Amino acid sequence: MGMIGSNLHRAKSIIEAGGLVAVPTETVYGLAADALNIEAVTSVFSAKNRPTFDPLIVHVDTLEAAEKYIEKWPPKALALAEKFWPGPLTLLLPKKEVISDLVTSGMEKVAIRVPDSELTLKLLGLLKRPLVAPSANPFGYVSPTCPQHVDDQLGDKISYILDGGPCEIGLESTIVGFDASDNAVIYRLGGLNIESIQAEIGAVKTKSHSSSNPQAPGMLTSHYSPHVAVKLGNIRKSLDTLHGIKRVGVISFTEPIRELPTDQQVVLAPDGSLKTAAKNLFSALRYMDTININTLLIEEVPDHGLGKAINDRLRRAAAKH
Ligand code: TXA
Ligand code: MG
Repeated sequence: MGMIGSNLHRAKSIIEAGGLVAVPTETVYGLAADALNIEAVTSVFSAKNRPTFDPLIVHVDTLEAAEKYIEKWPPKALALAEKFWPGPLTLLLPKKEVISDLVTSGMEKVAIRVPDSELTLKLLGLLKRPLVAPSANPFGYVSPTCPQHVDDQLGDKISYILDGGPCEIGLESTIVGFDASDNAVIYRLGGLNIESIQAEIGAVKTKSHSSSNPQAPGMLTSHYSPHVAVKLGNIRKSLDTLHGIKRVGVISFTEPIRELPTDQQVVLAPDGSLKTAAKNLFSALRYMDTININTLLIEEVPDHGLGKAINDRLRRAAAKH
């Protein structure tokens, strides 16, 4: 009991004792631990059942705090951090030694960001230490966007869930790295639009996914998947080819499917906005795993702005192992 709450001092003492606390961010809830405590970091991997080849994002409260953990800023990285932090942007930057190889899975670059959540920024301020925080879900499953999602799956493995309400954005951060010539490369589409990034630093490349290559962590194709089988495409056409609609679920962008019972469908954005769709997507995927269906039909959304990140998650949800 008392598992979900907004007691920052409780959260602080659990973290200081090496425990795990789920924390809100503007993107998704994170499973936080002291980034400088190896045992605590190890227990993050085990609570999530996450392989240690998949590194963790370090969260700090200011750009100045980030400087304690990174060697140098490529000029474009600094421009992005100054413009978009706090916000849904993770930068891959050369790490200082104080960040252990466990956090970065042996890589020389650390993923780091300043999240835009009042509670979590306050917690970081009280701790005066960085937090590792992967999304607070079992490895491979859909990320949590409210405290209840975290409790449903990891409630028995963590001590406390800091309640910041539903996440404002609902998609994970955009991850940006830099190549040998300091040009920006997008490693994961997310809550910050490519268009906004390009407006700041010019053209950027996007790295493609891998189905199994551990050299490209964070980019496993089959990820963010609900348990039910997902079929991505034109919902009408898919319904026509199915024999019955009794055990079918539908996630559509703006319009409901009239002949389907309302409890078997979610309309992501009745207002037609991609922002609303992003905010509702993960709850919709999770809902579909709680009802008795065997196929989930989903349509892609317009492929611009946040729509690119939404479609990326939909494709990965549909890519079954
Ligand atoms: O919005 C977010 O980024 C959320 C919130 C909680 O901050 N966190 C999140 O963490 O999505 P996670 O661990 O679920 O996803 C982070 C991804 C992983 O897939 C990981 O492979 C990649 O970032 N990543 C982390 N560190 C990396 C590194 N040093 N090099 C390359 N990829 C890295
Ligand atoms: Mg994750």
